[in-house]
Amino acid sequence: MHSSSLPRVLALVGMLAAFLLPATAAEASAPLRTHAAARGKFIGAALATSPLSGESSYRNIAATEFNQVTAENAMKWDSTEPSQGQFNFSGADAIVNFATQNSQQVHGHTLVWHQQTPGWVQGLGASAMRTAIQNHISGVVGRYADNPAVVSWDVVNEVFDDNGNMRTSFWYNTLGQSYIADAFRAARAADSNARLCINDYNVEGINAKSTAMYNLVSSLRQQGVPVDCVGFQGHLAIQYGFPNDLQQNLQRFADLGVQVRITELDIRMQMPRNSSKDSTQATYYRNVVNACNAVTACAGVTIWGFTDKYSWVPDTFSGEGAALIYDESYQQKPAYTAVHDALAGGTSTDTTPPSAPGTPASSNVTSNSATLTWAASTDSGGSGLAGYDVYREQGTNDTLLGRSTTASINLTGLTPSTKYQVYVRARDGAGNVSGNSAAATFTTTTGPVGGACTATPTVQTQWNTGYVVQPVTVTNGGSSAITGWTVTFTLPSGHTLTGSWNAAVTVSGQNVTARNANYNGNLGAGASTSFGFQVSRPSGDTQTPSSYTCA
Ligand code: XIL
Repeated sequence: MHSSSLPRVLALVGMLAAFLLPATAAEASAPLRTHAAARGKFIGAALATSPLSGESSYRNIAATEFNQVTAENAMKWDSTEPSQGQFNFSGADAIVNFATQNSQQVHGHTLVWHQQTPGWVQGLGASAMRTAIQNHISGVVGRYADNPAVVSWDVVNEVFDDNGNMRTSFWYNTLGQSYIADAFRAARAADSNARLCINDYNVEGINAKSTAMYNLVSSLRQQGVPVDCVGFQGHLAIQYGFPNDLQQNLQRFADLGVQVRITELDIRMQMPRNSSKDSTQATYYRNVVNACNAVTACAGVTIWGFTDKYSWVPDTFSGEGAALIYDESYQQKPAYTAVHDALAGGTSTDTTPPSAPGTPASSNVTSNSATLTWAASTDSGGSGLAGYDVYREQGTNDTLLGRSTTASINLTGLTPSTKYQVYVRARDGAGNVSGNSAAATFTTTTGPVGGACTATPTVQTQWNTGYVVQPVTVTNGGSSAITGWTVTFTLPSGHTLTGSWNAAVTVSGQNVTARNANYNGNLGAGASTSFGFQVSRPSGDTQTPSSYTCA
């Protein structure tokens, strides 16, 4: 945006006021956008051009509930420049005009992606491809640079493969990694004020791919490349579990100085739908909005559509669907209530607690771990089940052993040869707590014979202000199987753990304890597994942790 003329500045001020002002006492029943704006965040939806022009229910909800929109397809290269130099902005303009009429901000999606890019681009040689990127970005970004509604762009999309290596797309194969920095610089040249984002999927939790993203963003910014924002797509599925370290992951990117946002949220399920799946889905939606609420640098959450009537999921993931917050008849689902209540925070009207969970049953009891499973609670108050707390009953001072978003938990870090009496409570999205389940008892087995387990770290990458240790190989060198392990090590002073994967990690001062995750504790004689972690350290310090122990 260039603020070259007074009318334009006034239009911008008006739009910002509309976006930010309802900061006082939003009515509990108010639409999503009212509650989001009261927090200074956006709640958005991806829009498809055909129902936008043809269906009033679609248009009404899109206008009323959201203060941000993204074009689901209309701004992609195959729509905006189907043949070289022939730009077509009909679909893109329709969305920008709709957003302008409804005081919504527009996120431009997407400039350089390996999909939905015409064949004429893919076959170009290096020099012609570089020129094509420059022309495309200046044509598309330039068209909206003076439009106050269009505030941000996905400059590059999905540059990593599933392992966190550079995706060997036609971009990469022809130009190498340099196309990324070139695209950001071209976008900045075309619009000096737009927020410029890099966007990807499967980067919501802390894992190898999100760490590769972290390292790329950090290094691009050190080189002065104008990366302002990181987009986490958020295409989740209830059957794969929730990335519980989402908030921690958003925060580590925020600490690099970039804005973060959830850009394409949908939470699919295996069909058919039922109320238990809807309730889990609602919990996931709430968790995503809560994570963004909790991170100041998180600008907002965009849902990838809003009605199951128009969702890419059934066409893309065989047998799956129902991923959005309205059903196919434009009725609000429990997921809508969850998003609403998470945005509304304290204004929820749900005062009905969930039902008490069933009696927990123990299994896989070892010297330091046990699995508990119970019959799920139900929640009828509207805010949806948020999760369970598992307590150890100890006279007057019961202790919290763990929390779970599902009707099961793997307890770790238990004491050998000890009787545990435990019970479970459910929480809903408004903070109401159920009664206690009936109690159950189990006794941990005697501890393993020491000395069998070893931990061998490898420093995978280092940079001036941090490093990744991966893999830390954990080996059972003994002659019998173990069912859990605990690795400890010490961080040099001034070093801070910023992420970990494949282990349950706790930090106390500089002492780090990494326990097996619920899927990698069982090691037969001679077997190995591994975990990893990431640390930030003061610039100039070259130390890495030492003195690893394993038990
Ligand atoms: C999808 C659209 O939803 C579909 O309509 C289209 O056929 C394919 O693309 N990651 C992205 C989005 O960045 O652009 C994709 O959108 C979904 C995955």
